[in-house]
Amino acid sequence: MNIKEIASGIHYVGVNDRVTQRFESLWPLPYGVTYNSYLITDEKIALIDCVEISEVEDLLRNIRNISGSNVKLDYLVVNHMEPDHSGGIPILVDEFPDMKIVGNKLTIGMVKGFYHIDDDSKFYEVADGDVISLGSHSLRFIMTPMVHWPETMMTYVEDEKVLFSGDAFGTFGALNGAVVDEDMDTSLYFEEAYRYYSNIVGKYGTFVLRAAKKLENLEIGTICPTHGPVWRRQIPEILELYKRLASYESEPGVVIVYGSMYGNSGAMAEKVAEGLAARGVRKIIVHNAAFSELSYMIRDAFRYKGLVVISPTYQMTIYPPIKSFMEALKSREIRNKALALCGSFTWASGALPELKKYSQEMKHEVIAEVQMKHAPSGDTLAAVEALCDKMAEAAE
Ligand code: FEO
Repeated sequence: MNIKEIASGIHYVGVNDRVTQRFESLWPLPYGVTYNSYLITDEKIALIDCVEISEVEDLLRNIRNISGSNVKLDYLVVNHMEPDHSGGIPILVDEFPDMKIVGNKLTIGMVKGFYHIDDDSKFYEVADGDVISLGSHSLRFIMTPMVHWPETMMTYVEDEKVLFSGDAFGTFGALNGAVVDEDMDTSLYFEEAYRYYSNIVGKYGTFVLRAAKKLENLEIGTICPTHGPVWRRQIPEILELYKRLASYESEPGVVIVYGSMYGNSGAMAEKVAEGLAARGVRKIIVHNAAFSELSYMIRDAFRYKGLVVISPTYQMTIYPPIKSFMEALKSREIRNKALALCGSFTWASGALPELKKYSQEMKHEVIAEVQMKHAPSGDTLAAVEALCDKMAEAAE
C-alpha cells in the first residue's frame, strides 16, 4: 500500500503491479509497473486517474483508508483512456453511483465504447482551459492530444501547483516504498524512463514537444504522472529527458543490432565492435536480435547516436527479428542517427536492399554500408574498417 499526502488535501492512492509480465502484452516488466491514482479531498472529492481492472480493489482500499468506508466520490477525472488506467471505471461507477466521469468529448466516446456506460448523466464534459472547483482546490484541464492517445489531457491544480500529467513523464518500475522522488534513489526510474518513452510514447515526439510548450507558462511544483514516481526534486531532469527524447537527441555511443544464423553476420558484428573500440568509442552495445528483447533494442536505438544494423538474407529478405526491429524504428519515425547498414547473402542479395528500403522510407541518411557474400574476407573486412572510421567520428 503506497498512500502518501503529496500536497495539502492531495493523496497518492495508486497501486503497484508486480505480477503482469508484459505491458501491453509486449514490453517486459522486470521491475513491475505502477498505475498511479490521486485523491483530492475538499468540499467535493475527486479521484484523478483510475487503475487497471485487476488492481481496482487495492485502489478502493486506499481511497477508503483516507476518506473512510462511507466515502462518496463526486468526480473521476479521466486524463487518459488506455485500459491500464480506465479498466477500473465500471467498478467505480458501481461503487459510486453519483460520481461524474470528467473527460473531453473523445474521452466520453471511449468510455461509452469500451465499457458500455451510456447514461449521459454520468458524464461531465470539459474542454481546454475549463475549470472545476472542488472548494479550495480548482482543477484546470489542459488538452494534450496524442500523449499518448488522442483524448489525452492533463489536469492542473493551481493553488498547489500540481500537474497530473497522464503518461507524460512516466516510467516503468513499481514503487519500492516511497512515492515522491525526493524520498528515493531514482536511478532505476530514469533508466526505465528511456524504455517507457521509446517503447510506448516514442512515436508521438512531436506531440510531446507541443504539450511541453503548452506547459511552459505553468508554475509546476509537483508532477504526478500515471506511472512511476511523483516528481518534485527532479522535475527539470525528467522534463529535459522527455524533451530530449522527443527531439531524437542522442548520447554518444553506438548500438549494433545483428541477426546471424550460422555465425558469419555475427562475426561481422564482432568486427564492427572491435573496430569501434579500437577507435576510442567507449559506449558500445551489441544486441543479437534473435535473443535480445525488442524493448531494449528500441531503447538503446533511441538513446545513442550510432546505430549499425546487420542482417543475413533470409528467404530473399531481412532476417525476421531484424525486420521487427526495423519496423519498430519506422513506426517510431526515428531520426538524427548515424546509421550504417550491413547485409550478407549466399547466392542472391536480399537483406541489404531491404534495409536500404527501410532507410528510404524513414527518410534517413545512411553513412556507411557493407555487403558480405558468404563469410568475412578481405574486401568485407576493409569495408567494415571504413564503416568504423565513419561511425566512430559520427557517433561521438
Ligand atoms: Fe499508461 Fe497510455 O497508458
